[in-house]
Amino acid sequence: VGAIIGTGIFAVIGTAAAGSSGHLGAGPGVTLSFILTAVACAFCALCYAEFAALVPISGSAYTYSYATLGEVVAWIIGWDLIIEYAVGNVAVAIGWAAYFHQLMEGLGLHIPAWLSVDYRSAHQAADAVAAAGGQLSMDIALAHEAWLQHPTVLGIPVIFNFLAVIIVAFVTWLLVRGIKESATANNIMVALKLVILLFFIGVGAAYVKPENWSPFMPNGFSGVWTGASLIFFAFIGFDAISTAAEECKNPGRDMPIGIIGSLIVCTIIYIGTAAVLTGMQPWHQLGVADPLAAAFANLGLDWAAGIISLGAVISMTAVLLVFQMGQPRIFFSMSRDGLLPKYFSKVHKKYKTPHTTTIWTGVVVATISGVANINEIVELTNIGTLFAFVLVCIGIIILRKTDPDRHRVFRTPWVPVVPLLGIAMCVYLMLGLPTVTWVRFGVWLLVGLALYFTYGFWKSHLRVKQ
Ligand code: ALA
Repeated sequence: VGAIIGTGIFAVIGTAAAGSSGHLGAGPGVTLSFILTAVACAFCALCYAEFAALVPISGSAYTYSYATLGEVVAWIIGWDLIIEYAVGNVAVAIGWAAYFHQLMEGLGLHIPAWLSVDYRSAHQAADAVAAAGGQLSMDIALAHEAWLQHPTVLGIPVIFNFLAVIIVAFVTWLLVRGIKESATANNIMVALKLVILLFFIGVGAAYVKPENWSPFMPNGFSGVWTGASLIFFAFIGFDAISTAAEECKNPGRDMPIGIIGSLIVCTIIYIGTAAVLTGMQPWHQLGVADPLAAAFANLGLDWAAGIISLGAVISMTAVLLVFQMGQPRIFFSMSRDGLLPKYFSKVHKKYKTPHTTTIWTGVVVATISGVANINEIVELTNIGTLFAFVLVCIGIIILRKTDPDRHRVFRTPWVPVVPLLGIAMCVYLMLGLPTVTWVRFGVWLLVGLALYFTYGFWKSHLRVKQ
């Protein structure tokens, strides 16, 4: 739960409900989008649970596939996981920046808009304002403010998301020093996230106007479907627990409970949040960067908006930490197998952390966070993660054929039905994403394959030994 609740529920929910230039909004039907996505994740979670208990070694899907499906598939998954972890964190950092900006405004501290959004969003906002002539939603207002007020240095306009860069730098610094991921720290974070969302549901329920729920699906089921493809981002992270399989007392029991249990808890609380949010405001007004806080701010409840913003900032920092910690460890495993240069598995002499990859991940994530648009990044993260889920489901089916007698502490029920349903649902959600996202993802995979055949193929320890 510590890794799951973050930018998805605090920020992406607004775009999923209201739509954007690239896709239709789900409207109040975003509640159904959550259910649809949860069902897809449940099938995949059952497959993850079998793998996690079967190959209880760090490295998540990369390690499972190396152990069971061979090197090329493992490389593809490892390369693909960069999208889930590093690119995903770009979106979390941008979401963090939006809420942090809002929180500071609430406290009377003004951070210039041109240090809180990316250049392209500001430029697009200027165009949108010119076309619409007035009527601004809040995120457009911020981006437009950036456009109007930005300074220029040597003729170059200065607009970049400095806040997103700063938080990534801070998290990277923490991780290089090494932080103890204690169960107590995580439990506190989880309690805080749940309390904040329950607070939103409890207080917000008093301001629900049922007429806002009608029409329930303003763009029909298409809106619910594309909404589900976006809101999938809110569920990413239930698979991250599988990287802790080595530390389970009883993986056969604990992994399925952890994976399925966190999904159930988050789904229930997400549906409640979606229902209240869409009841509080007309759906087409939800397309802002901080919809949960804005819902209160628009009612004049600035204190409640402040509590939500603070909770969101802390929640997103926790997600950033988990994923920013996961990425170097995946690089580490890939380097240990010879698929990446040894440089990627260096460990700091004093702090004993994989500092080189932690810093590189930080530099790349921070740079992209400064200039990227959150919606495009969320879409790319989703397609990459859904693809990894598909490969995990396929892996379960293949392994039951190639190695039927292996001892399985946890067995995915109804194989091949459950993995096949998982594959079908993930592909269905992938199809809800725009063509440009498919193209970007295709290019990413091709670059990955080119790298494998120029480096990993020749240097892999397994192959060299053979
Ligand atoms: N599920 C995580 C979030 O929404 C990635 O921030």
